[in-house]
Amino acid sequence: MSSNKSSNVTWHAGSVDLATREKMLGHRSATVWLTGLSGSGKSTLSGIVEAELVKRRVAAYVLDGDNVRHGLCADLGFGEKDREENIRRVGEVAKLMTDAGLVVLTAFISPFRADRDRVRAMLGDRFLEVHVATTLALCEERDSKGLYARARRGEIKDFTGLDSPYEAPLSPDVVVGEHGGDKEVN
Ligand code: ADX
Repeated sequence: MSSNKSSNVTWHAGSVDLATREKMLGHRSATVWLTGLSGSGKSTLSGIVEAELVKRRVAAYVLDGDNVRHGLCADLGFGEKDREENIRRVGEVAKLMTDAGLVVLTAFISPFRADRDRVRAMLGDRFLEVHVATTLALCEERDSKGLYARARRGEIKDFTGLDSPYEAPLSPDVVVGEHGGDKEVN
């Protein structure tokens, strides 16, 4: 690609393949991609699952939106293009970590279907999409970080669910819902 600044760089395969790593670790690798509104419970849920997996000797690791935005994505805001770049970078990191044999749990709003689908395309059957489907009304009622109130006062713009869209997954592997209990759909 002529627009790719890395066009003179050649990909080379690593010396240890994934099957060898999985054998060493004793489990398969995958990325479990949580998506949902701010305050829906993605971080809490991924943290609980991570702790449980590690207790069972699974090499699991959480990539969390609020944390990643302090470092890797500290230069990005919340406009559509920046969110797309945020998810692209995280997707690439998740791919590397999955290739290293880990079970990666990601907790990003990741509001755009196309961005999530690009990550899915990179990871194939090692990608599981989990919709944390807490309603906007409940997220706003909880408002654990006080951000909804600030967004309503006009102090934060492009806030997901208010003046920036959230595109729910069309066929997620798992839905964690507040209403009617949790349901598995696939
Ligand atoms: S994403 O849309 O690019 O996937 P990400 O998950 O990294 O978002 O970051 C979301 C977190 O940033 C929210 O949980 C919230 O704490 C904070 N935040 C700050 N501004 C906004 C905004 N305009 N919209 C949504 N979340 C915001």
